[in-house]
Amino acid sequence: MKILAVYCSKGGVGKTATSVNLAYTASQNGLATLLCDLDPQGASSYYFRIRPKKNFNSKKLLEGNIRKYIRATDFDDLDLLPAHFSYRNMDLKLDRKKQEATALREALAPLAEEYDLVFLDCPPNLTLLSETIIASADMVVTPVIPTTLSMLSLEQLLKLCKKIGVDKTKIHAFFSMAEKRKSMHLDTIGKYRKYKLFMKAVIPYMAEVEKMGITRKPVGAVRSRSVASLAYERLWKEVEQRGLV
Ligand SMILES: Nc1ncnc2c1ncn2[C@@H]1O[C@H](COP(=O)(O)OP(=O)(O)OP(=O)(O)O)[C@@H](O)[C@H]1O
Ligand SMILES: [Mg+2]
Repeated sequence: MKILAVYCSKGGVGKTATSVNLAYTASQNGLATLLCDLDPQGASSYYFRIRPKKNFNSKKLLEGNIRKYIRATDFDDLDLLPAHFSYRNMDLKLDRKKQEATALREALAPLAEEYDLVFLDCPPNLTLLSETIIASADMVVTPVIPTTLSMLSLEQLLKLCKKIGVDKTKIHAFFSMAEKRKSMHLDTIGKYRKYKLFMKAVIPYMAEVEKMGITRKPVGAVRSRSVASLAYERLWKEVEQRGLV
């Protein structure tokens, strides 16, 4: 079982859209996939029309008491652990002295026989939870809008890796919500895509992705050969090639 975190400290860069669409693509490729919605705002859970059970909470998550709270989605090979409102206090529940740096990995370990792949849809934070996510994941996929502030978040992520002793080759960035008509986007992509840190696949700004708020489905489940669906398939192939599975 591999753990893939979709993480960026910056908000609104496409983490949830990426988590939902890549998890769907992985499951369509036959991998037993679990998507853990770690954001108390619960956007991934919303897209799959799934609500958490009332008695679930962040303490249970960190104790690895997870299995009975996992729900099936409408799609084969794709399950979801919905977010819970209590996750907003996750940083307080993470106790440096009591828990391993890889607390999330330990919590998910009992599921190793059931799933090939676990996606973590992460909240936009740069906190102790972020450290735990980065230390626990096998691979960190980071959406970067081709703008200065998003690039700054990426720099901060690399700095955090260094600080907590995590190998920065775990980080795989890609350009997200890219717009051809914006010269800053084109310049930034042109300048940085040659670095190994960046995957070649670019996810453009697409109305189909925005419409997920209405369809409440992964883009590939709405139309399997759409531009958006093919873009996420290309990103998925690259994630695979980079040695995840
Ligand atoms: N490629 C895209 N094209 C157009 N709209 C997009 C794209 N990716 C994401 N969006 C839209 O941008 C908004 C933010 O996306 P998303 O929720 O995936 O970001 P996020 O990084 O998870 O945000 P948060 O930090 O709040 O969790 C949403 O309304 C989403 O529909
Ligand atoms: Mg999100």
